[in-house]
Amino acid sequence: MNLWELSDLSTPWCVHVAATLRLADHIAAGKGEIDALAAAAGADRDSLCRVLRHLVSKGVFEEPARGRFALNETAQGLLDGPCRLGLDLDGIGGRMAHAWGTLLSAVRKGRPAYAEAFGRGFWEDLDAHPDIAADFDALMGPAGHGAPDPHVLADPADWESVRTVVDVGGGTGSLLAEVLRAHPRVRGTLVDLPRTVALSCDVFQAAGVADRVTTVGQSFFDPLPGGADVYLLKSVLCDWPDREAKAILRRCAEAAHPSGRVVAFTRTESAQDASPELLMLVLVGGRDRTFEEFRELAGDAGLEVRAVGRQPSGRSFAECRPV
Ligand SMILES: C[S@@+](CC[C@H](N)C(=O)[O-])C[C@H]1O[C@@H](n2cnc3c(N)ncnc32)[C@H](O)[C@@H]1O
Repeated sequence: MNLWELSDLSTPWCVHVAATLRLADHIAAGKGEIDALAAAAGADRDSLCRVLRHLVSKGVFEEPARGRFALNETAQGLLDGPCRLGLDLDGIGGRMAHAWGTLLSAVRKGRPAYAEAFGRGFWEDLDAHPDIAADFDALMGPAGHGAPDPHVLADPADWESVRTVVDVGGGTGSLLAEVLRAHPRVRGTLVDLPRTVALSCDVFQAAGVADRVTTVGQSFFDPLPGGADVYLLKSVLCDWPDREAKAILRRCAEAAHPSGRVVAFTRTESAQDASPELLMLVLVGGRDRTFEEFRELAGDAGLEVRAVGRQPSGRSFAECRPV
């Protein structure tokens, strides 16, 4: 592969445009002819045709007759809700795509430059745009990432002594819902920003666990609900630089003291799948951490790693105790 091929941005942008204009849906609805497709998508016929022909040349869509486009297996992926959520330039997909334009600045300065593109930092941007925030929450939840695995303790026998679980930065509650469903005697508390916990009701109702859940809309940089048996941190620490990640861990340690445990998901060393690590850099200045990096951070925050576990899906977690 040569550098021009590696740095060619046309295909990613064309895929984003196709997703945003719902081209796959229009074609699936019988509007594959370019005039009908352009009208349905609200697009310029000629420009749209050029975008589609580029995509066809890359194996996305087919053009079985001149000016008539059809879905192939790859293009059918654009019908998937999660794929659309992540690619739609009018939603969170646009935030993620345009944020790459700030990579140079982030690399030069060593901190996120997201505000240079959007006028404010990522979390503040979500606060200011509830629709984009709801997209982000959906992408993080079951609609985007599927049903989470409730296997969050290294030794399943330990659930005997667990009565309360707090999911810190738990999004709209999909992990907590699965944990409570798997452990009917356990009660749960969801902690996340007020606008996000407000969207959790349906998730808990659908899982049939709403009567065992309390939701708390607050910052995890403030003191957390105390005295629970387990505090979960999934896909949270990777959103923050070390200083903030340590502060979150310290809040968990304080709340869990003296006998609770803090379970944090860590990077899977052998993961072959693409890491969102650089996306974390441009969006929020976060990073993935190896197990050793996590252990050090946890130690500074008053936590000692006592066990490590691996979910059947391959995701690793560390179980810590306050010291
Ligand atoms: C990447 S998402 C992970 C959500 C969930 N744990 C999961 O694995 O799907 C990070 C979460 O942190 C929450 N968050 C960001 N800043 C926060 C803060 N200051 N206090 C509490 N939650 C916050 C976001 O609303 C979001 O739900």
